Amino acid sequence: MKKRIFSGAQPTGELHIGNYLGALKNWVALQHDYESFFCIVNLHAVTLPQDPKVLKKKTLDLARIYLAAGIDPEVSTVFIQSDVSEHAELAWVLNCVSRMGELERMTQFKDKGRGNAERASVGLFTYPVLMASDILLYQTDLVPVGQDQKQHLELTRDLAERFNRDFGDTFRIPDPYIPPVGAAIMSLKEPDKKMSKSDENLNGSIFLLDDPDTVTRKIRKAVTDSGTEITFDESRPAITNLLTIYHLLTGKTADECESHFEGKGYGVFKSELAEVTVEYLRPFQQKVKEFEDGDLERILSGGAEKARSVASETLKSVYSRMGIR
Ligand code: AMP
Ligand code: TRP
Repeated sequence: MKKRIFSGAQPTGELHIGNYLGALKNWVALQHDYESFFCIVNLHAVTLPQDPKVLKKKTLDLARIYLAAGIDPEVSTVFIQSDVSEHAELAWVLNCVSRMGELERMTQFKDKGRGNAERASVGLFTYPVLMASDILLYQTDLVPVGQDQKQHLELTRDLAERFNRDFGDTFRIPDPYIPPVGAAIMSLKEPDKKMSKSDENLNGSIFLLDDPDTVTRKIRKAVTDSGTEITFDESRPAITNLLTIYHLLTGKTADECESHFEGKGYGVFKSELAEVTVEYLRPFQQKVKEFEDGDLERILSGGAEKARSVASETLKSVYSRMGIR
């Protein structure tokens, strides 16, 4: 039997090249070797205020993005979180297994709640528990995510181990899959901060749906480090970040990238990176437009049905072990 993968992204903001290189690209690469579940986590989205009309549209747009990026619905299960009510049900149970103290240690809550717990929603606080439910419902082996999700994966493992210990073996313990390169793509404007959907400075991110002129302009205006070398060097985070994007989009090895740009200036490097990025995104952007609404709905309802058949089995055994009928 194939091992299982589960991952997801929130249908908020615009997906950027960090989401793609840190997560989506790996989902596409891994999907043939694993039984894969890729979810659009709209219940996570409402932990922060959302405009209902926009959320609804973004949920379907994100499904289009998964498919255009190369997730094959014949091979992988693609579905919307709220279509499978088991996610919310298991989250309740796991809320009762989680400790306030361990959730208080989650750094993403501090970031997203802007340090103001008094004003943050309780949903934002228990966000990682819903994420644990997503993963554990599918008896997942591997969770391909970016570096920022590592702490949530550790919590997921802790909750699963605690439940198994207290109620008997129920959940498989998942491992994170964090890619060795690309797990944290940084802002083009502030290379010490990760590229983020919620960054107010739109010039810091290359969005997957940016048009060629916008991509080119953002790369041209990206900050650089002092010096002239175009090499991977931790002490020069801006150039290292740009070169990492080049490395991952071209598939050239790190050495090939460095020797390719040896003796060339930042101007040449940036125009080549812009060209590579534009050409990489072109077929993807074309595909995003191609999916008919009917086809999309068919894929999503088939996906939900498949997901539900697995999720309901897990929830049934959780309830029965806990004495919940
Ligand atoms: P989100 O859009 O926050 O739901 O994130 C979707 C996926 O993209 C998650 O697996 C994140 O870890 C990953 N991700 C988000 N930002 C970055 C980044 N700057 N670099 C690499 N991966 C990222
Ligand atoms: N929390 C993840 C993020 O912000 C999204 C997510 C929700 C997820 N549930 C998941 C990722 C389950 C992997 C597995 O990126």
